[in-house]
Amino acid sequence: MKTKILKIESPNDLEKIKIAAKALRDGKLVVFPTETVYGLGGDGLNPKTCKNIYLAKGRPSDNPLILHIARNDQLEALVREIPEVAKKCMEKFWPGPLTMIFNRSDLVPDEATGGLDTVAIRMPSHKIANAILNEADIPVAAPSANTSGRPSPTNANHVIDDLFSKVDYIVDSGFTDVGIESTVLDVTVDPPMILRPGGITLEMLEDAVGTVLTDNTAIDANDKRVPKSPGQKYKHYAPKAEAYCFAGNLKNIVNTINKKIKDQPDKKIAVLATEETQKDYLGAYKVINLGSRENMPQIAHNLFYALRECDELNVDLIYAEGFEFRGIGTGIMNRLLKACGGKITLGL
Ligand code: TXA
Ligand code: MG
Repeated sequence: MKTKILKIESPNDLEKIKIAAKALRDGKLVVFPTETVYGLGGDGLNPKTCKNIYLAKGRPSDNPLILHIARNDQLEALVREIPEVAKKCMEKFWPGPLTMIFNRSDLVPDEATGGLDTVAIRMPSHKIANAILNEADIPVAAPSANTSGRPSPTNANHVIDDLFSKVDYIVDSGFTDVGIESTVLDVTVDPPMILRPGGITLEMLEDAVGTVLTDNTAIDANDKRVPKSPGQKYKHYAPKAEAYCFAGNLKNIVNTINKKIKDQPDKKIAVLATEETQKDYLGAYKVINLGSRENMPQIAHNLFYALRECDELNVDLIYAEGFEFRGIGTGIMNRLLKACGGKITLGL
């Protein structure tokens, strides 16, 4: 397939927005940016297009897709009911990095939901995404635009690496903002439950709607139960090298990682460090500064980029500093847990 790149820098570039929207309506595959990560979009009500999305990504077909919409009035036809909690969340957090799970209507095909009776829906706040979705005026199914198992793409070059020649269009609008995928909140249960932590944090949700639970498998490396969100059971965000995460007291983390570097002089080791510690690692092949611990959103923004950089550098081992399970730190740790295949040392 010949992939065309559409560079769109503004939601006012109507000519190109219309090309992307028409392609979506015609059942084509269009990668577009969102405020979280790039998405691999296609007509979410077209079973054949949904199948093509799975094929392009190499994704297991029981891992359901998120339908992306531009306006509240598109929601009603897709769901059986809109619970009060969802209404409050829509008002507060849409458009934005919050996906909600609803009971689905008959309009939504099995191919979009992996056969589940529920459907995931989100309204992105990215201006260009919103312009394309509004112009297309169909619910657009869009998983993250990476090959299944790889870190999600936070710029168009990542997408080109994974999906060039597998999709019809790639909209290139530079870097995404949040850097990790949306929070997934199940609003079919009471109290609602976070299935995947992200940019809209537990604290923000509790502020808006009261009690909110979190699926323990999303935050506990030792919880081997099947996650409630099918996608969470797969190996994810996996860099090529073995990755290990160390959490607890920062001084102890630095000392532990330094000792491991010293003990393995023949290994190419990358350290995922922070502004505060980057100068403290001695002898590492590469020290990647994720950003300041005072600015956790910046660390989320840089995380997947850093994991892909480790692949490019062909390192043997990755040692990552851990973070507190608080605010967006919970989302960051969820991704690190998966990148490390659960190899996390807590409580140093
Ligand atoms: O930020 C995001 O959400 C990005 C951008 C492109 O919007 N999309 C994204 O999609 O991360 P994807 O397909 O990579 O992840 C969707 C997650 C998966 O973990 C999937 O299992 C879960 O949402 N999910 C989808 N439908 C579900 C459902 N009906 N019940 C439970 N989990 C569901
Ligand atoms: Mg994904």
